[in-house]
Amino acid sequence: MPRFKNLLLIAALVMGVLTLTAAPTPDRWQPAAAPDFRIAGIPGDSARAIENFNAGWRFARQDQPGNIPPENPAFDDSAWRMLDLPHDWAIEGPFTFDVPAETGRLPWPGIGWYRKSFQAPADLTDKRVFLEFDGAMSHPQVWLNGQLVGQRAYGYSSFQAELTARVKAGTNNTVAVRLENPPDSSRWYPGGGIYRNVRLVTTGAVRVAPGGLFVTTPAVEPAHAMVRVALEVENPGVQTAEAVIETKVYAIGIAGAAAPKAVGEPQVIRLTLPPGATRAACAQSFSLADPQLWSPASPALYLVRCDLTVAGKKTDTAETTFGIRTAVFDAAHGLLINGQRLDIRGVCNHHDLGALGSAINARALRRQLEILGAMGCNAIRTSHNPPAPELLELCDRMGFVVMDEAFDCWRSGKKRNDYSRDFDEWHERDLADFVRRDRNHPSVVLWSIGNEIHEAANAKTGPPLATELRDIVRREDSTRPVGIGCDKPNSGNNGMQDAVDVVGYNYKPHLYGEFLKNHPDRPLFGSETASCVSTRGMYYFPVSDDKGKGFFNYQVSSYDLYAPPWAYKPDVEFEGLDKNPACAGEFVWTGFDYLGEPTPFWDDSAPPTNFQNDAEKNAFHELLAKNGNKSPARSSYFGIIDLAGFPKDRYYLYQARWRPELPMAHLLPHWTWPERAGEITPVHAYTSGDEAELFLNDKSLGRKKRGQFDYRLRWDDVKYEPGELRLVAYKNGAPWAQAIQRTAGDPAQLDLTSDRADLKADGQDLAFLTISVRDTKGTLVPRAALPVTFTIEGPAEIIAVDNGDPTSLEPFHASSRTTFNGLALAIVRTHAGKTGKIRVTATTAGLPPISIYL
Ligand code: GAL
Repeated sequence: MPRFKNLLLIAALVMGVLTLTAAPTPDRWQPAAAPDFRIAGIPGDSARAIENFNAGWRFARQDQPGNIPPENPAFDDSAWRMLDLPHDWAIEGPFTFDVPAETGRLPWPGIGWYRKSFQAPADLTDKRVFLEFDGAMSHPQVWLNGQLVGQRAYGYSSFQAELTARVKAGTNNTVAVRLENPPDSSRWYPGGGIYRNVRLVTTGAVRVAPGGLFVTTPAVEPAHAMVRVALEVENPGVQTAEAVIETKVYAIGIAGAAAPKAVGEPQVIRLTLPPGATRAACAQSFSLADPQLWSPASPALYLVRCDLTVAGKKTDTAETTFGIRTAVFDAAHGLLINGQRLDIRGVCNHHDLGALGSAINARALRRQLEILGAMGCNAIRTSHNPPAPELLELCDRMGFVVMDEAFDCWRSGKKRNDYSRDFDEWHERDLADFVRRDRNHPSVVLWSIGNEIHEAANAKTGPPLATELRDIVRREDSTRPVGIGCDKPNSGNNGMQDAVDVVGYNYKPHLYGEFLKNHPDRPLFGSETASCVSTRGMYYFPVSDDKGKGFFNYQVSSYDLYAPPWAYKPDVEFEGLDKNPACAGEFVWTGFDYLGEPTPFWDDSAPPTNFQNDAEKNAFHELLAKNGNKSPARSSYFGIIDLAGFPKDRYYLYQARWRPELPMAHLLPHWTWPERAGEITPVHAYTSGDEAELFLNDKSLGRKKRGQFDYRLRWDDVKYEPGELRLVAYKNGAPWAQAIQRTAGDPAQLDLTSDRADLKADGQDLAFLTISVRDTKGTLVPRAALPVTFTIEGPAEIIAVDNGDPTSLEPFHASSRTTFNGLALAIVRTHAGKTGKIRVTATTAGLPPISIYL
């Protein structure tokens, strides 16, 4: 089959493979639909109407010439594109070399306009109307019927625009939103547009203030808990209002397991609200017997509902889920949840969802958490900005703890046009609103006021500003500690360590011991660790232990040894933590690859290196010349999991450590190296066992035991011969797990699998389909690069494709993709309200097509 030889030749330029180790996935990490975050089954009407406002917007990508500006209701937008939110205007591409590699080479900078008309209800007497944006990138300005009703600077902030004074009852109203992303305003791909959800909310005149329902649990004991429900209520009217507040608590348990159950007696209190746009506060306390505590292992939830009545009329209903738990950072013991240590096995993640860009989709987020959970990850850092609210809802329900982060800079910026320009005007509002939005989530155990903040290295400017921010946080939530992620060693002793409650060090395992000795009362954790870089399925020889080697034609070898100068392989962090058990744990940089920051190739001058022959070198220089000698790299190499969601080798290094009870073993590299017969091809193994024996074609290459600070087993002298590489792992002397790598033949078949077969017909639910190239025996062909086309029949569509290659400039919004190291991904979305069979077919020339039914 000469065609395949050709393809293999092309693939050989790329090199590599993914090896999957079969590991049982506990039920809680099985792929599932994103839950409906509004808890059903609570009796009684709500006096707050919450309407999804995502559908039917018009969109244009620039300011509009002419005398009538787009905010004017008379503006004619009929030529604008129709779309539904959430929407990221940049992810459709095309990739452009006008945008730096650092921000993903996608066209996110610039201006965008959105317009939407809606019919307001006929009777709005005594009503207040709001638009709630979970985030809009960036500098949103919102107009209703030509009047500015809200604006913001930070693209990650949630905000409300009050429409009450301008909305016209019983007729058409026009909302217009202008966004502007200045160039050079981000260190990564921010996306652009109204990329999160929007809701239209209607209440009575007297309502609960935004973020004004705050549930705390001042006493948590096995047999009894105190639940305190604090409320801030607004009265915009010109008369005193006497409000009656009735509050009920419901037990939900593990979400979805049973119907909510009322617990405790409802409580009623009265609150007098003086006139004139005032706020008044009150609190009620509940005593609950036998509380079901929230923990990552058992994420049980409760719900509180408050109904407000004024002059016999219900005016508002506020609801929130919450958890009953204690979460304490202790200098000697790390993070204690309900008194028990929770080793932080965390990852940092950016907000983009790979091929879906920054447009939020709860199912895509859930999938990320499923993949991370199966690895043993129990913590997420929302680096370096407020996340979509759905992430926290999912973490509450799935059992992750969260370091909820506000900023990547303060007054001193990292980019010419970043948030530092807006900091003075907006930081108090942004930080307070962020805490008020997120403070009922049991998953949130730590507030972060910043990442690698320049001021933190300066004893004069850092501590006072940190203290100011800490106090804003404490004002809104005194129940959780305030932390920070510091890259400069001196932030551990220049006063910063006392301005926050918990200190996070980025990339400083060598300083943990010193810090803990000098500050025995200050809890410490690794806020950013490792930053190991790799490309799924790529291996470069000879294997070097020098972390600066291993870069290969804009790809990075997957031996998990390579990192930029400030960083290191995962093993180094493990040793630092094992030597300093008081340290609370780590947040690895990163869980998933993300768009932008393609270190070590973020700089266009980063030279392609390590060519194995002239043909490779020439081919690469041709590609570069086509790009004006600019790096094609456009997404990160830091992920434990690639941009398409396929685990890299490192996934199993972390799984071995984070799920020691799971019998698992993983071998690298792949074992299809026709050009390497007789050459040294080192083999590394990751296992939760403590010892393993390696066999090549049934011949033992020796049994090795892990030493105290060994986290991988290595056979560095293996000479390649085709066949079967087999690892037998042992724990405490008994067989524990096995891993196999087999030499693959030519591509002979495609395999198509879906992470889920039953989808919700809600227009949001997604299935993630993996296509892989196999030989006649079903072995993955580890370097296959075959162009695959997907077609779909039935009530669904293919919304994006990917293959995890950080240098691919093929569009994400397409229905075909070249497999990268044997794999590609297609993302299928259902159509709202349409049920029926969905059939997806994948084809590539020369192989039989393959279909799957959903
Ligand atoms: C850190 C920074 C992260 C990311 C990372 C890459 O210094 O906080 O945002 O840039 O480096 O290693």
